[in-house]
Amino acid sequence: MTVVPEGRFITFEGIDGAGKSTQLAVAAAWLRARAIEPLLTREPGGSAVGESLRTLLLAQPMTPLAELLIVFAARAQHLAETVEPALAQGRVVLCDRFTDASFAYQGGGRGLPPSWIATLQSWTHPDRQPDGTLLFDLAPEIAATRLQRERVDSDRFDREQVGFFDRVRTAYLARARAEPKRFVVIDAGAAAEGISAQVLEALAGWIRPDA
Ligand code: TYD
Repeated sequence: MTVVPEGRFITFEGIDGAGKSTQLAVAAAWLRARAIEPLLTREPGGSAVGESLRTLLLAQPMTPLAELLIVFAARAQHLAETVEPALAQGRVVLCDRFTDASFAYQGGGRGLPPSWIATLQSWTHPDRQPDGTLLFDLAPEIAATRLQRERVDSDRFDREQVGFFDRVRTAYLARARAEPKRFVVIDAGAAAEGISAQVLEALAGWIRPDA
């Protein structure tokens, strides 16, 4: 009998410009060096429908409620088509943003009631939560400077003001405080090696490649 290893669902969160994409690559390389090929995916996105919705979300002005419904529509498809099948095969899934981003951006940033988001969550993934979440925490002023330096073309969210990202950050930190077992909060303003070390330490705890 073949024993399928338990899948692991790890999510990466933080305000735009906090550096999570770089750390996703570091995490993926660490896993590959241990003969684990992770599934790298992102939200919104990760499926054909999800990527089309992402293009719409990032380009078109829309109401906060329309934003919320689009990110959850993308999520429903992403889970069904990509994430759940991979986890069922025992894969490690590294996902760039998930539902915490909806609580942070549409809840904190846009001011929608968290209860609406909780309801959509209960419809979309009643039995699925990340096994671990890395929150890259950074002052919005520093993130904005990084974005200005690094981005060639900005999207609708990148162009938001510092006050918006302050609210997003506060909402993220509140979620991390509410679920300390799931979250690891990383000071994204620290030196790069220090950040990677914290990422890999958290990953090792969640994945246990030698177990
Ligand atoms: P991201 O991939 O981090 O952006 P980039 O490609 O610019 O690094 O995420 C895209 C944007 O989508 C980001 O600004 C946050 C937003 N977003 C939400 O507003 N709600 C959500 O639920 C998700 C998943 C993303």
